[in-house]
Amino acid sequence: MAELRYDHQVVVVTGAGSGLGKEYAQLFAARGAKVVVNDLGGSIHGTGSGASKAADDVVSAIKAAGGIAVADYNSVEFGDKIVQTAIQNFGRIDVLVNNAGILRDITIKNMTDEDWDIIMAVHVTGPYRTTRAAWPFFKKQKYGRVINTSSSSGLFGNFGQANYAAAKLGLVGFTETLAKEGLKYNILVNVLAPGAGSRLTETVWPPDMMAAMHPKWVAPLVTTLAHPSCKETGSIFEAAAGHFSKIRWQRSDGLLLRADETLTPDVVLCEFAKIGDFNSKGARSDGVGNMMELLEKGSKLPKNNIEKSLDFNGR
Ligand code: NAI
Repeated sequence: MAELRYDHQVVVVTGAGSGLGKEYAQLFAARGAKVVVNDLGGSIHGTGSGASKAADDVVSAIKAAGGIAVADYNSVEFGDKIVQTAIQNFGRIDVLVNNAGILRDITIKNMTDEDWDIIMAVHVTGPYRTTRAAWPFFKKQKYGRVINTSSSSGLFGNFGQANYAAAKLGLVGFTETLAKEGLKYNILVNVLAPGAGSRLTETVWPPDMMAAMHPKWVAPLVTTLAHPSCKETGSIFEAAAGHFSKIRWQRSDGLLLRADETLTPDVVLCEFAKIGDFNSKGARSDGVGNMMELLEKGSKLPKNNIEKSLDFNGR
């Protein structure tokens, strides 16, 4: 099998001074890419910055292995500056991995606006600003690959992470929209929800789990999604410890009720179990169906009726 190469490509990895980003940067560089290693060098809670060491160390390791890389110390909140680093040093940008991240774990009751705002700034505004800055270059060259980093916390929720989960699921909507906007320019955008032993997980995971979940076992999916031969877009993947999977939304077949004065809360309660029935044949994973078709069908239905009294468990 031919080795996937990234020669002549310029890859920006945000938050590449440690953990997952560091592995992505090193793998891209080992396969020929010129890499911008972005990291502002702060704490896991988003405090402190200006520690250039994290990015510098990764750049040194890449250069020592014969690769090409440059460090960038800007916060992703100023993503346009990160893209400028790529343009100034290498004259182009082909791949953007929005990976930088922090945590502010706290339950909703005790959450402050600052806990909320900083998570949104790093995880949502950061990828937005960086991607927006890269977009004109992608569009002009009719080529771009973007990988946005979500989390199982965003996809499924996690205790004490309402801020982080909201931001991480926000990136899914961001990605699904950009995949549509980018398709005709060959700009492909996907989401990755990784799992890896890093400084974000070392306080909660035991050492053997940290070892098994080394970030290097996630990196091959990121590089694959970023390769010119990969045509995937608008998709959500999970990767951890060498296990790779794809996630999709699924809509139940649902129930079409006649939209008139008989469509009351009582009718909805009565039909609640059918609305949420995933076992029927018509369950779908795509977007909004044909509304006009549904309206037409609905208008031909008999008047809605409360057949029997049900509670919310459908009993
Ligand atoms: P990490 O803490 O080892 O690496 C994150 C890097 O981002 C750090 O080097 C940090 O300095 C940098 N960073 C933070 N804020 C930044 C900013 N404003 N601008 C530039 N750089 C900044 O963490 P890890 O685990 O490698 O996380 C990478 C990404 O993966 C994050 O987005 C995280 O939320 C996500 N993730 C990680 C999981 C895991 O199991 N490790 C699980 C799910 C998602």
